[in-house]
Amino acid sequence: MNGRDIVDALVEAPVVTSFTRIGYVVRSRLDGWRPLQGYDLSGRVIVLTGATSGLGKAAAMQLADCGATLVLVGRDADRNDQAVAAIIESSGNSNVTQVAADMGDYEQVKALAKRVLADHDRLDVLIHNAGALTADRRTAPDGTEATVASQVVGPFLLTSLLLDRLATTPQSRVLTMSSGGMYSSGLTVSGLQMSEAEYRGTEQYARAKRAQVVLNEMWAERFGGLGIHFHAMHPGWASTPGVDASLPTFSKIMGPLLRSPEQGADTLVWLAADELPLQLNGGFWLDRRPRSTHKLRGTKNAETPDRRQRLWDWVSETCGNEPTLPDGEPVAG
Ligand SMILES: NC(=O)c1ccc[n+]([C@@H]2O[C@H](COP(=O)([O-])OP(=O)(O)OC[C@H]3O[C@@H](n4cnc5c(N)ncnc54)[C@H](OP(=O)(O)O)[C@@H]3O)[C@@H](O)[C@H]2O)c1
Repeated sequence: MNGRDIVDALVEAPVVTSFTRIGYVVRSRLDGWRPLQGYDLSGRVIVLTGATSGLGKAAAMQLADCGATLVLVGRDADRNDQAVAAIIESSGNSNVTQVAADMGDYEQVKALAKRVLADHDRLDVLIHNAGALTADRRTAPDGTEATVASQVVGPFLLTSLLLDRLATTPQSRVLTMSSGGMYSSGLTVSGLQMSEAEYRGTEQYARAKRAQVVLNEMWAERFGGLGIHFHAMHPGWASTPGVDASLPTFSKIMGPLLRSPEQGADTLVWLAADELPLQLNGGFWLDRRPRSTHKLRGTKNAETPDRRQRLWDWVSETCGNEPTLPDGEPVAG
């Protein structure tokens, strides 16, 4: 451990320093981060979900500034158009388009994949950022609990449908925006969808975010050999419309300490642009460094190989798509 690692560990230990803007400021200085505007992403095609607000919008702005060709995804075509116009105006990059799709509606996810495949002969980065924490229990069109449908099943389906295009694009990446909230929750498959009676938005969200991180590792294990790099991350705590709406008291009390959307999105953009994430696969990141996926022994013990396999099987079955290798063979567990 060198001096920088020790300071980083000291910041990481208490969540309040690690997740707030303190963690961002200390680490960016500690590691002498390369400014994001220094990356040239011209010619790279990036699909980014949840780009109309918060972290996704901040990431889209930064990626457009770097010259990327962007496909922005959100549920509402008008909101998407407004985001596209704002990003083109601010960056001067006109290679920004949008597709309206609800990530919890699998027919819309299939239509989104079709559009991407028809419009782009390469796919450098697929970013699963769309997400929400809802106080009341909702369901997706297929009846799956909506947090799970839109943040676990829908993204899994989209990755599956775009897998071949990712595999034929050199150094491609699939990035997932999880949450530090998942540290409190162990992997559960039977309890992945909370019932109406037991539903608590923060707990439902944590369970879905844990499943995202486990699936990220499983994608890397199973499909990393195709040259696709899978990474998940969490942004710390950032001030966004989503946080203001879902956690108003937290947002008010923590306000001055919260990261800006740009600070929360920094590692996402960096994972899309830098060479370092190509040297490993299946990582979980915060502030441009890989992090442990567990802070509690109980959550680690919950993650048995059998339970991981059951998660993969359940998600494949729910979206009706078992990801296969290019030769059509399903991947062995
Ligand atoms: N901010 C934080 O501190 C924080 C912390 C941990 C994790 N995160 C994660 O970061 C991501 C972004 O959060 P945020 O804070 O930036 O929230 P936000 O301001 O509410 O933005 C959420 C974005 O996701 C889109 N979206 C939501 N549900 C969708 C669905 N079913 N299908 C397609 N798009 C959908 C929204 O677009 P439309 O409404 O236009 O469809 C919006 O663009 C989420 O995954 C969240 O869980 C955030």
